[in-house]
Amino acid sequence: MSCKDTAKILPIIIMEKNLGIKWYQTIDSTNSQANRELADAPHGSVWVADFQTAGRGQRGNRWESKSAENLTFSILLRPTFLHPAQQFHISRIASLGVLRYLHDKGLDAKIKWPNDIYIGNKKICGMLIENSISTDKLSASIVGIGLNLNQRGFSSKLTNPTSLIMEKLSAEGNSDLPDKIYDRKDELSLLLGYIFTAYSELEEGYCKELEEEYHRNLYRLGEFHRFIEIDQDAPADIPVERISRGKEITARILGTDEYGCAIMEHISGEIKHYPFKGIRYVL
Ligand code: BTN
Repeated sequence: MSCKDTAKILPIIIMEKNLGIKWYQTIDSTNSQANRELADAPHGSVWVADFQTAGRGQRGNRWESKSAENLTFSILLRPTFLHPAQQFHISRIASLGVLRYLHDKGLDAKIKWPNDIYIGNKKICGMLIENSISTDKLSASIVGIGLNLNQRGFSSKLTNPTSLIMEKLSAEGNSDLPDKIYDRKDELSLLLGYIFTAYSELEEGYCKELEEEYHRNLYRLGEFHRFIEIDQDAPADIPVERISRGKEITARILGTDEYGCAIMEHISGEIKHYPFKGIRYVL
């Protein structure tokens, strides 16, 4: 795929297309279900769950979400116009879709590289993207999204979680908000509109604009902070907390390269590019 030069803002696609949405009360994981149906499901299929018994997170972690309080869903994209080396474009448009949705709610959301969404120092949304490659194309991309909407309390094991309702309460003080203020069907419909709009922009070649928007919304962009540099020989499926072979560094994120690696400047001035499993923030 090649990028266009000129800027063009596409209108938000409201969900007039009859997308195939399957909504489950309980399932192991919507990403796993999407994988099971991968061979026959068309582009744009969506699997949603009230509750996942084995919700999967990044780096082999679990994704925990109280039943029927939040959005846990997976979208199947078939971005065959992308080369496998361009797979970060999907991560970018998915992050921007969620980001635009949250900005529209009045929240100052940022993207914690590569695709966590943060409000301040708190995580409101996580993504698990699983790609399938066939020869020289990206044949399928399952974009799994967990967005916290109505949940007010989280397990103490999680690092700094938040939700839309918690952010609204903290912005408005102790106001008397109903328990489930956000209707999950309405919010899903809105959010899918934003994600498919960003996807259409990519499909039409507006990758420069998408790249710039992603860049200027990066969490802690250009600020020196502590990070753990992960030993690349550590087994890939071990949760990062259990990897002892990591070195603490002070560095700042300058942006991402064409493959989606984080470009980091160490305090010494050295510049290094890190793949997803190569570095993690110390929060
Ligand atoms: C992360 O660790 O931040 C990624 C979390 C991704 C969770 C979502 S919830 C819907 C989809 N199904 C899963 O099993 N995981 C993703």
